[in-house]
Formats: sequence, C-alpha cells, structure tokens
Amino acid sequence: MSGGDLHWTARTGAALRGTLSVPGDKSVSHRAIMFAALAEGVSRIEGFLEGEDARATEAVFRRLGVSIDAPGPGRRVVHGVGLHGLRGVDGPLDCGNAGTAMRLLAGLFAGQAFDTTLVGDVSLSKRPMRRVTEPLARMGARIDTGEGGLPPLHIHGGTPLKGIEFETPVASAQVKSALLLAGLYAQGTTTVHEAQPTRDYTERMLAAFGWPIDFAPGHARLEGGHRLQAMNVIVPADFSSAAFFIVAATLIPGSELRLRRVGMNPRRVGLLHVLRLMGADIHAESADEQGGEPVADLVVRHAPLRGIEVPEEHVADMIDEFPVLFVAAACAEGATVVRGASELRVKESDRIGTVAAGLRALGIRVDETPDGATVHGGAPGGGRIDSHGDHRVAMAFAVAGQMASAPVRIDDIANVATSFPGFDAMAREVGFGLD
Ligand code: S3P
Repeated sequence: MSGGDLHWTARTGAALRGTLSVPGDKSVSHRAIMFAALAEGVSRIEGFLEGEDARATEAVFRRLGVSIDAPGPGRRVVHGVGLHGLRGVDGPLDCGNAGTAMRLLAGLFAGQAFDTTLVGDVSLSKRPMRRVTEPLARMGARIDTGEGGLPPLHIHGGTPLKGIEFETPVASAQVKSALLLAGLYAQGTTTVHEAQPTRDYTERMLAAFGWPIDFAPGHARLEGGHRLQAMNVIVPADFSSAAFFIVAATLIPGSELRLRRVGMNPRRVGLLHVLRLMGADIHAESADEQGGEPVADLVVRHAPLRGIEVPEEHVADMIDEFPVLFVAAACAEGATVVRGASELRVKESDRIGTVAAGLRALGIRVDETPDGATVHGGAPGGGRIDSHGDHRVAMAFAVAGQMASAPVRIDDIANVATSFPGFDAMAREVGFGLD
C-alpha cells in the first residue's frame, strides 16, 4: 500500500509457493458475535476476522451493553446478555461497509424494546434495504428507511412481531437471516423458502447455540420464544479470501500453494466447481469438521484455463467470487459467459460494471448484460483501475496484475481492510508483485 493515497501497483511476481492461512470467515464472524451477545453465558470465539466489517458488528453490541474481551488477535470472549438483555442507546449505530451487519441487525433490532438507527459508509448507503424492510414490515416491524429504501434505517422498538411464511424474491442469505433473526422475537413460526439455496450459517449457528430450527437447502423454519445458550465458536478460514490465491496460483505458471483449513460450506464453494470446469487443478485434502463447519486444505497448482458458460446453478454459491472469476476468465482461452447474476449490481459496488471497466482498461474485451457478462479471454496489459472502494474488486485486480504485461495501478483500496486486513503482505510472502 503506497503512501496516503492508498493505491497498489501490481506487477508480475514469482510463481506462488508456500502454505497460507487466510483470515477467518466474515459471515461466520458477524453471526458469532450476534448470537454470543444474545446467549446466556460466556462464549469464546476463535479465528474471529479482525476486519473492519466484523469489528463494526462487535462495536454495535459493545455500545448496546455487551461486554466483549479481546484476549488476542482473532479471539473474543463474549459475555452474553440473553435475548432481552441489550440496552438502547442514543445516536446512530455504525455498520461501516458491512451489508451483512445492517441487514441482519435490521431483523434482530426489529424485536427489541428500544429504537435503533443503523447507518453505513458511502457504499453501504447506496445499497437496497427494502428487500429486508418490506418482509419485516409484514412481520409487524416498523422501520423507516432513507429515500428510495436506502440507509439509514430507523427501527422502532417495542413493536410486537408475528411469524410469517416468506419466499425470498432474490437469492439472499442476508434477507433470509434478517427474517429468521426477527423470528426469534416473533410470536409463532417464521418460515423462509428460497428458490435458490444460499449460505446457511445463521441456521447452523442458531442450532449450535441451542435454538430449535428446522432447515434444509432452500428452506428454514423456527419459532419465537426460545433461548440461546453460550458456546465456543471456531471460525473457519474465509473461502472468499482464499479465492484470490486459488485463482492466482491457477493462473501463474509454476505455482503450487496450500491454503490451510478453508471453510468448505457447500453454499460457498461454487467457484471451485466452476474453476474445475475451466481446467483448474485444485485438490481438497485433510477434510475435517471444525465447529460444525466442513474445512479442508486446498492444494492449488497452475493449470491453463479455458472459457466456459458458467452454469447458473453455481451463481448463488459463488456470489462473492465474481470479481476474481472475471479475472480468471480474462486470462483463459476463449470466452466465459455469466448469466443470472444481477445481484452483482448491488454489492459493495456494481461488480459487473466496475470489473468490466477495469478489465477494459487492461485491454480485455467484455460485453456486459444486465445480469452478467461475456469476458473474452486474452492477454491483459497494464493500466489504471478504480476499485470504487470495493475490497474484492481491488484484490481481484491485484491478481490480474500478476498476469499483465505491464504494471497495474489499483486505486481506492482502503476497504480491503473490511474483509482481508494484511492481504498485500500475505500476497507478497507467497510471490506476488504488489506494492
Ligand atoms: C452474506 C451474504 C451474501 C454475501 C455477503 C455475505 C452473509 O449477500 O454477498 O458478502 O453473510 O449472509 P446476499 O445475501 O445479499 O447475497
């Protein structure tokens, strides 16, 4: 990272070699703090992501009266206050860049006795919230949004909630989770159906904290009025952070990397299936279970990639991996076609637009559609990229820079710290050219 203007210059480095442990899973870290805070007793969290997003959630619960000790990096001891033990405060609660925090907390706080206001940074303030506020209103919640259904959210407390049966119109674990969390406080049963199954960390972790819940891919149901019991949570390494190294080691000739103890939840590893279809050489070894989640070491060796039509069934299972998949496609032989991914338009940036613009700046042809793109593989050149403050776009272009014929300057990279603090140092350690 250079000076105060926060940019990187990525250029051809060495073949990637070595063993890496990437930081803890962001989705699991958010939920671990939330459930531990509302549980009865003391919970210990290991492998907590020391990124700004997870820390934003932690700071919210601290402000609401939950005592959380941090005895060392990645470790938290949470003194749970019970389902009704949070204390209201004046002033807004800041979710920073974290869409997961704002949407899940909207559900959770709809059931509190006090009012809350949730705010976020410039990027989060442009992200749609009606997808949670509308179904929550059907449960009886009273939530005011900013203009156009955007943040801030003002959530009125003291409102009785009732369970509903809801079919999510977009594949979104955040929407599903917001409803389930409101359902903890609701009278009766809350049921969520999903046409396309999404990550099920909320369901798995509620069950682990002792809340009766019935779930299977595409469906979850719970009742209000139970209790959460403290437990210890071990957070697996974040597959989405590992993804940058998986793609980089695949693309760079001579590479062989081992990524340790990566979370392998089936709803997260769509990228593995797609890269394998493109010709990648990725092996999962030492498969194990850690804190109720599947984990494995991933061994990645260089292999040439060819373009494919990405099967739509994998889209939801790799929704955070498209920036780096587009980079892989840019370096593959032939065209890669993505469809059915309109959700990418409303992530931390418009990830179709920002990545397409970045690839074009490197001389790659990209045809955009409303719900995807066709990337024509070729040989990326040098250029200047605006990441639009999107952490995953910045890291994806750090990978592109390894394959480019001239240096790639990547602007607006500060938000890498939201999900992967220390990415650049770790990347240099295994061979990236990045400063
Ligand atoms: C997340 C769900 C996904 C994902 C986000 C984290 C979660 O969002 O993109 O990074 O932790 O539930 P959507 O549910 O909006 O697709």
